[in-house]
Order: sequence, then structure tokens, then C-alpha cells
Amino acid sequence: MPAATKKIGLLFGVEDSFPWALVDAIAARGGGEVVAEAVSISALRDTQSFDYALILDRISHEVPFYRTFLKVAAARGVQIVNNPFWWSADDKYFGNIVADAVGVATPRTMLLPHKHRPPNTEAASYRNMRFVDWNGVFEYLGFPIFLKPAYGGGWKDVYKVDDAGAFFTAYDSSRDLVMMAQEAIAFDSYFRIYVIGRERVHLMRYDPSQPFERRYVRDAPPLEAALAERLRRDALALSVALGYDMNTVELAVRGGIPYAIDFTNPAPDADRYSIGDDNFDWIVTNMADVLVERVRNPRPFELTGAWPQALAARARERA
Ligand SMILES: Nc1ncnc2c1ncn2[C@@H]1O[C@H](COP(=O)(O)OP(=O)(O)OP(=O)(O)O)[C@@H](O)[C@H]1O
Ligand SMILES: [Mg+2]
Repeated sequence: MPAATKKIGLLFGVEDSFPWALVDAIAARGGGEVVAEAVSISALRDTQSFDYALILDRISHEVPFYRTFLKVAAARGVQIVNNPFWWSADDKYFGNIVADAVGVATPRTMLLPHKHRPPNTEAASYRNMRFVDWNGVFEYLGFPIFLKPAYGGGWKDVYKVDDAGAFFTAYDSSRDLVMMAQEAIAFDSYFRIYVIGRERVHLMRYDPSQPFERRYVRDAPPLEAALAERLRRDALALSVALGYDMNTVELAVRGGIPYAIDFTNPAPDADRYSIGDDNFDWIVTNMADVLVERVRNPRPFELTGAWPQALAARARERA
């Protein structure tokens, strides 16, 4: 390997199609200057340095050891995709506030107190907390309601409920999770959208009512140009504001308006067998382009995306 060769490290878990295809795609466009390989890491020494120019993180949400490793690597000058600092801090409910700041519609949503006490707390830990006015919640949202964790993913602990009885059954089983209650969007169409490098956008028609392996709609009819444009704009605006270089944005379209449902996905599904060959080719090619480009033109260290400026601008508009 020539001395000037820069390495991209891939940090991943059980997935098997995307990482290896990405290694090949990076080799194909790296011109010998940029190569990719699986990251190799063990117990971390505090004086350690890292010979990766960039690390693509697909797994640190499941392996906390990796999250700290990535923060340290970032501090030592390694480009990390996605930003481990912001990834550690974001959540779905805060995401809605960011969406509003960049002019993207969201369903009406309320954040609920934990049903069960988190460990190490007792009744007196909650002296600031008032009882919830449940009728007020139901009036604001209207049934059906989605209940889902603010720190969630993987369709776990997501409930759709039609009445107060079903709502409380679901809420009562939510343990000590922080749940959000959300207006259900009765959508005409639903999209899952890749946004890569905060500039490249790929629309995928998605049908959440189908079994897992058929959710990415193959051979969907062409989209009306104005709607496609709006979906692209919204997905891009969200990913730029959040500062994610690999993200999927889910938008549900009702009456021509896309509503942001789930858009903080910094390690999105990229498995050939679930997304299908065409989408897989798109994500591998575009991810490789963006990562190689990023190695050649590193970004300055950043804590988050553009949302602090977007929020301030929104507040000025509303003043
Ligand atoms: N407000 C809503 N209106 C309509 N459908 C919704 C709403 N919220 C969630 N859903 C449906 O529930 C599914 C799972 O919700 P969501 O995407 O928020 O959870 P998740 O745990 O992030 O799931 P995943 O990781 O599979 O994307 C969505 O794909 C969508 O079909
Ligand atoms: Mg989702």
C-alpha cells in the first residue's frame, strides 16, 4: 500500500451485503489513494492514535463501547459518519422541533412521562411532575394514535391504538421508556428516502402494511413531479439540519403534504435483500462517492448539523 493511501474503516455488525460491496466500490473509485476495510479495534489505550481517515459507523447504537471509541477517534481527527456526538443526543421528539424549524410538517405529537419509574428513582423523584390530563391529550391528537418511544428504532414498542382503552393497555406496557403519542397520519402514499452526504437524495416507495420483505415497493408508478420535488426538499432539509451524512427519512403523504414520521436514522437499513437490487446499487455507489470525497475534503469538527441556526432563524421569523 503506498504511503499516501488513506483508509476508510467500516464498523458494522451482523449485516453482510452492504459493507463488503462498499469496500469494493470504494476501491473502484479510490484510485489507489483511498481504500476501505473493516475496522479492527480492541481495548482502547488513552494515548492511542488511529490510522483511519474516516470511519463509517453502522453499529455504535447497539455497542456502547464503539460509541466512546468513535468519540475518541473524532477527537483525534478521524472523520466519523455519522457524527457520534449528535447521534448520542438526538431523539425522535426533538427531531420534530428541528423539522418545524426547517419548514417540514410533522404529525401533532406529545411527549409523555414514563409509565414506570426508571431505576434509581422513587416517588419523591417526581415532585415536579403533574398528573397528565389524558382527555386533553386525546382531544389534541384525536384517535387513532401512535405510541412510540422517543429513543426508538426497529419498530419496537410501536403501537397504533383506536380508543382510550387500547391506549392505556399500550401505555401500561411501555415500561420506563419515554413514549411519544402521535396523531396517526392516514396517508395516501409513504416514502422511505435515502439522503447521503447531505446532498444526494433517493426516493423509495414504501408500503408499511406489507410483510417486511415486500415493504420496498418494486416497480412503483412514476411520481408526480411536484410531489417528488417536495419529498426531496423535505428529506434534504431534515438531513442537513440534523447533520447526518447517511440517513433515511420516512415521509407519509396526506392530501399532498408530506409529514415527517421517522427521520433520525443514522444507521439505516442498507441490506440488499430488504431494499432490493436497484436501491442497493444506488446506496453503495453514492455512499462510496461521498465517503471518498469526504476523505479528500474533510469537514471541520462539528457537534451537530445546521439546526441551531435554523431554529434561531425560525424564532426571528415568528417574533
Ligand atoms: N404518526 C404516524 N402516522 C402513520 N403511521 C405511523 C405514524 N407513526 C408511525 N407510523 C407507522 O409505524 C411504523 C413504525 O414507526 P417508526 O418508523 O416511527 O418506528 P421505528 O421504530 O423507527 O421503525 P423502523 O426502525 O422500522 O423505521 C412506520 O413505518 C409507519 O408505518
Ligand atoms: Mg421507521
